[in-house]
Order: sequence, then structure tokens, then C-alpha cells
Amino acid sequence: MNFKNGFAILSFFILQLLAGCASTSFDVNKSLDYCIGQSGKTSSGLTGYDSIPRSIANGQTKWRMINYKDWCSGFYPGILWYAYEYTKDEKWKAKADSFSRALTPLAYNPAYDHDLGFQLYCSFGNGLRLTGDTSYISILLAAADTLATLFNPTAGTILSWPRDIQKLGGHNTIIDNMINLELLFWASKHGSSKRLYDIAVQHANVTMKNHFRPDHSSYHVIIYDSITGQAIKKMTHQGYSDSSMWARGQSWAIYGFTMCFRETQNHAYLDFAQQCADRYLRDLPKEDYIPYWDFNAPGIPNAPKDASAAGITASALLELSTMVSDTTKAGKYRAAAEKMLASLSSSDYQSGNINDAFLLHCTGHKPNGGEIDASIIYGDYYYMEALLRLKKLQEGKNIIDKL
Ligand code: GLY
Repeated sequence: MNFKNGFAILSFFILQLLAGCASTSFDVNKSLDYCIGQSGKTSSGLTGYDSIPRSIANGQTKWRMINYKDWCSGFYPGILWYAYEYTKDEKWKAKADSFSRALTPLAYNPAYDHDLGFQLYCSFGNGLRLTGDTSYISILLAAADTLATLFNPTAGTILSWPRDIQKLGGHNTIIDNMINLELLFWASKHGSSKRLYDIAVQHANVTMKNHFRPDHSSYHVIIYDSITGQAIKKMTHQGYSDSSMWARGQSWAIYGFTMCFRETQNHAYLDFAQQCADRYLRDLPKEDYIPYWDFNAPGIPNAPKDASAAGITASALLELSTMVSDTTKAGKYRAAAEKMLASLSSSDYQSGNINDAFLLHCTGHKPNGGEIDASIIYGDYYYMEALLRLKKLQEGKNIIDKL
């Protein structure tokens, strides 16, 4: 063996060793323990159930608090439910129940917007799944009926922002709205009418038709003509431009169509979820698998990242990996999700002692200057959900419990 070959062989073994270290350096239980530790810090500073953590601005340490009406109000109770799921500690269950119940009026008041699924399914939905508490059922059923009041049969979708009909020029639907269909699917199978199932399916079908470019990147907002129901404008609100791919919007699409396949077994949704996922993975920064806030953001590689999109996508890809029959493709989705979670679990993305959230580097609304490179509660929620899903997969369990 000459010196050159010897060096090459040695380098190979060192690389293998480093790869081995990298894969073992991500320990799901350790990351979940970390989440519990951070949750303990946040929870000890809270005063009442209608003062709910939403975000911590870059460079600050205090949570910006919201009340139950905010679109993010369900994520903190959801995190408390996940803390209970992981620890089985009744302390978290009691807090989760109280923070969930504080959102009850949303189910019975006229719908402010489409976010009822985020608000009530992340809270009461997880609560029902983990406790079977039947008192949550009537609240979830009422929430689904309230959400359904926003459905417009002419357009075939749920109205996302009633307050913006005039400003945006018609019935508007945003890609994020896909997530709220889960509440409708659940309700239609648990005592509500089949109409809610039909609404969810129609919304998904019309979204599939109008909300995507030929390469399966998503528009953020579609405006529908209220008389003809035709899509008349395709635009962004939180992305960089009307023609760019807003990272979290694409994550909602992957997560939403994966969930729609789970709820309907319609293979068109499974195919579509894969197309959306493949588009996302194609241009994802490969050094850490965390996207910039918009895939076409100006200033890349110095643009802000969005760790929340990574958490949502990791969670969705883990589920998708269990549905895809092509084992190579399933393995690709699982491996990508694990890389995302490994990055999120590193000191580059975990808040650690910087603040009490789980993650840094989430971006909420870049165009209006809101929550840029910040800690945001939905980033933490989907990160913890994805960790719990990965733990279940590693233990050979189903990642979705029957609800
Ligand atoms: N659903 C709003 C957002 O993703 O920012």
C-alpha cells in the first residue's frame, strides 16, 4: 500500500466514524427531555390561562403573550398535551386541560377566520386522543360546525380571511387552510354530518387544482370570483413574491395532503403530497435541511431561515414515509425528516439558555416585519410532534393514534 492509498483508506474510515457520530448524536429522547425542560421554564412564568405564549423576538427573552382569539392560541395547549404524552405526568395534563378549555368560546362564537382547526384540534383534539375525555367531543363538534360556516359552495373552498374579502377582491383561500380540514374529517366520523367530510374533500380538490404551479410549488393565496367561483388571482401574503415558494406554505401543503390521504385513502392526495414534498426537498439547503423563509428569498444565503417550516415538514414526511409503498422513496422521506430533526436538535437551532422556547430561527411574516428569525410557538409545537412521531416509529408503533 503506497502512502496515497493509505491516506485515502484512512480518510474513508474517519469519514465513516464521523458519519456514525453524526447519526448517534441525535437522540430523540434527549431532544424530548430538552423540550420538557424548556416547557418547565415557560410554564413557571405563566399567570393565567388566557395569557398564552406566542413568540420571543430575536435578542429578547420574554414571550409575547396572546389571548384565546389569536390564530396561535392552540399550539401552547398542544405542547402541554405532548408533554403529557411523553412524560405521563399528570401535572402536564392538568395544565393542558386548563389551557385548552380557555379556548372554548371559539367553538361557539361566529367564526372569525379559518384557523379554528389550528386552535381547537391542536388543543382539544390532542386532549381527546390522549385522555378520551368525552366532554371535549361536543366542543370539537361545535368548532367543526363553526368552521363549516365559512365554506363557499360556489368556489368550493373555505373562506380563510372573512375580514379581507374587500381588500383582496373576493373569496380568499390560503394554503395554510389545508390543516384545518383535519377537524372536519374528524367531526364527520364522530357524530357530525357527512357534509363536513364532503366540504373537506371539495376544499382539498379545489386547492389541488388552483393552488399550485406546474412544478407543485404552492401559491399562498387564491382569490375566487364570488359569482363564477373561478380562481381570479394567485398571490402571496407572507411569501417573497406572487411567483415565489414561501417555505411554510409548502410545508402546510405537504402536511395537508398527507393528512387528506390518511383520512380518505384517496391515492390522488398521496401522489400530490409526494409531488409537493419532492419539490420542497429539491431546493432545500443540503447543509442542514432547514429552508430559508422563502425558497426564492433575496439575499440567500444570508436570508433568515424558517425552522418552523422544518418542524412541520419533518412531521409530515415521517407520516408520508409510512404511506408510500416504494421503499426507496419511503426511506428518502424518513431520512430527510431525520436530518431536519437532527439539525433542529443541534445547538444551531435549539434555544438552550438563550430563551425558554425550544427553537430559534423561525420566521413568521417577513414582508410585514413580524417575527423574523424568532422563536415561535408553532415551530416548537411541530418540532415536538415530529420528535414524538419519530420516537413511535423507532419503537415500531403507529404514529397516528385513532381518535
Ligand atoms: N397560518 C399562518 C402562518 O403559517 O403563518
